Amino acid sequence: MAHSSILIFDFGSQYTQLIARCVREMQVYCEILPWNRIDEINFSDENIKGVILSGSPFSVRQEDSPHPDLSRIQGIKPLLGVCYGAQLLAQNAGGNVSASDMREYGRAQIDSISDNILFQGLANPTEVWMSHADTIASIPDSFELIATTASIPVAAFKIKEESSYGIQFHPEVTHSKEGRMLLRNFVIDICGCIQDFTPEHFINETLADLKSKLNKDHVVMALSGGVDSTVAAVLLHQAIGIQLHCIVVDNGLMRKNEMDQVIDNYKHLGLNIKAVDAKKKFYLALLGVADPEQKRKIIGRTFIEIFDEEAHKITEDIKWLGQGTIYPDVIESVSVNGPSATIKSHHNVGGLPERMHMKVVEPLRMLFKDEVRKVGAALGIDNNLLKRHPFPGPGFGVRILGDITEAKVKILQEADAIYTDNLLESGWYDKIWQAGAILTPIKSVGVMGDERTYENVIALRAVHSTDGMTADWVHIPYDLLAKISSEIINRVKGVNRVVYDISSKPPATIEWE
Ligand code: XMP
Repeated sequence: MAHSSILIFDFGSQYTQLIARCVREMQVYCEILPWNRIDEINFSDENIKGVILSGSPFSVRQEDSPHPDLSRIQGIKPLLGVCYGAQLLAQNAGGNVSASDMREYGRAQIDSISDNILFQGLANPTEVWMSHADTIASIPDSFELIATTASIPVAAFKIKEESSYGIQFHPEVTHSKEGRMLLRNFVIDICGCIQDFTPEHFINETLADLKSKLNKDHVVMALSGGVDSTVAAVLLHQAIGIQLHCIVVDNGLMRKNEMDQVIDNYKHLGLNIKAVDAKKKFYLALLGVADPEQKRKIIGRTFIEIFDEEAHKITEDIKWLGQGTIYPDVIESVSVNGPSATIKSHHNVGGLPERMHMKVVEPLRMLFKDEVRKVGAALGIDNNLLKRHPFPGPGFGVRILGDITEAKVKILQEADAIYTDNLLESGWYDKIWQAGAILTPIKSVGVMGDERTYENVIALRAVHSTDGMTADWVHIPYDLLAKISSEIINRVKGVNRVVYDISSKPPATIEWE
């Protein structure tokens, strides 16, 4: 480990990332690793300050469930088992883990029954979140019981001769009212972590690392105007200056005036930018194509071709491709169906590194999205840029349902601009995770003056989310929706009806295609 850290071993719980985010909120560095890497780690490494074992969809009673050798950690580093992790510790020491009469799911009051550092400062009882089908029925004599609830005998324990703890509940979930304080007790007081993982610290460490890794090498990078690629580019620029070559491709599927604003922002940031107007190429490649997946493929392929061509025009020898990959994209998550060593690779510019035979440099690959924003702010990037909603790589390509034409792009740009401007003016933009207008292929009858019209329907979408995996539709006030609707219908030629999408994800998705 290069940095003093907490290691979180993932057994497939849906909450594992939340544990990591809680630890990072304390400004303590941590990493998530799949449980089957426990054997590879040298736990006597001074930089490893403590270990957390996550929950799991498995039962420790299942024969094929994960049973790593924890003796390599126990007694060597402080250890906290959460749910499955706690059951594993109990089972290994001869305790009894049995099936609960029913799955215990929801809030529970927990009583701490001994003075323990893990529960220091917490109310007694305190409310926690339970989600388990198995229960620890008994613990061996070498364990000390430290908390219990009305329905489960062992809610938390400590192993007497070790700094190892087990908890049956989930402190990482916000429903556990004082869960963060419990995690803090573990991370700061038991493990002795120093809270030094600040944006400034990250920037200094990363710049030093980039300088030594890249030295005199040149890097090429595609920029989209999004937060991640921008922050990554600014870091690279601060490390290597004009050795970073940025390419911005206008695919003709961006928001109104977006390309100009993006270029303007980048120039202000001092980046070495090459803007490429490829609108016509994209429209030609997409001509007559209505299938969403095919559109995505064409947009991706066309982008790669153009980027490759532009990169080859740069006269310097380019060894590296810069990317704005962030931590959720690289976490080796354990799938419910068994441990998987595959790394989820999500690159908006997928396929580029292979095609271009370049090494990849990803300065943000260990950061969560909120940390990227904080680093961006510390680098002096404008708040308006950092607070931008996510925008899909294929842009309006997946917001114009059916085939794409330049005329349709113009209609959607106008409607989308009215929608966005109103959200900004009313203060709703910052309360929403993602919003956008969709041009549907539906035409409907309307009336304007004495004339009958037969024109397009625009749908408006706005969602609350934390990571795009699930989403709730936003209850935008009727008055604001009314204003947006009438402005769109009155000002955008070709639209005579506006509807608002009231579907959550799942079962709907955020984008319509
Ligand atoms: P869905 O529609 O799957 O969207 O609920 C979840 C999040 O992903 C974005 N999205 C994409 N981003 N390329 C991207 O870079 C894509 O093809 C793509 N499709 C969806 C979407 O905007 C939302 O933030």
